[in-house]
Amino acid sequence: MSRKPIIAGNWKMNLLQEEGKELFNGIKTFAKNFSESQLPTIVVAPTFLSIPAVASCKHNCGCGCEKVAIAAQNCHWKSSGAYTGEVSVEMVKDAGCEYVIIGHSERRQYFSETDEMINLKAKAILAGGLIPIICCGETLEQREAGITDEHISSQIKAALDGISSEDVAKSVIAYEPIWAIGTGKTCDADEANRVIGMIRNVVKEVSGSEAAASIRILYGGSVKPSTIEEQMSKSDIDGALVGGASLAAESFNEIISNTMKVSV
Ligand code: PGA
Repeated sequence: MSRKPIIAGNWKMNLLQEEGKELFNGIKTFAKNFSESQLPTIVVAPTFLSIPAVASCKHNCGCGCEKVAIAAQNCHWKSSGAYTGEVSVEMVKDAGCEYVIIGHSERRQYFSETDEMINLKAKAILAGGLIPIICCGETLEQREAGITDEHISSQIKAALDGISSEDVAKSVIAYEPIWAIGTGKTCDADEANRVIGMIRNVVKEVSGSEAAASIRILYGGSVKPSTIEEQMSKSDIDGALVGGASLAAESFNEIISNTMKVSV
């Protein structure tokens, strides 16, 4: 089964509204030159506050904006109520998002997100008609202790618990070894492919072979224009979640065009 690649940019806590708009303009202007079938699925994840500025152009005006989907970097699982500082699935959908990144290691580490919360978020996102991008990954200590597969397998099983096979099939997973995030140390492409293959087997075990064949599993961690071709040439890697290199249109667009050379 051929899976359409995804190149997703996680802007993290960067860029003011005008800067975000300018970056989005640079990406859509590039994407405009290609048909949907030539392009990977392109996703950008601005801060909550920049989502409306970026989404204000999303009205099929033909400028390329329809070729760039928007993701939120997080959301709450409850639909409304007394949850100061939080944003619901309906709110991010209303603002123009089609995807939500959940379980990023920075959220697990700095905001104490647990596997259980990530599972609740995944369910709420799917129930709201959006697509979760579920992140997982091991620390350097876990890798050195030889428990990478065990750790990731338990993160994935917890995240997908109680979700139907149809919903799992449309979800996205991002394998992001924590030691590779923002460090410039990309995980060896064969090793990333091995771990992603292992994740696909876990999905098969819990959700069946159709879901495992359909779900798109990305690699993240110091992805650059110079690394993406090798990563995309691997059998199980379906795209990339890009942090630093997604903050400039030039490098993000180069990642997209190098992806197209390999496998769209
Ligand atoms: P990086 O970030 O590309 O800057 O390593 C990836 C991520 O955290 O999603």
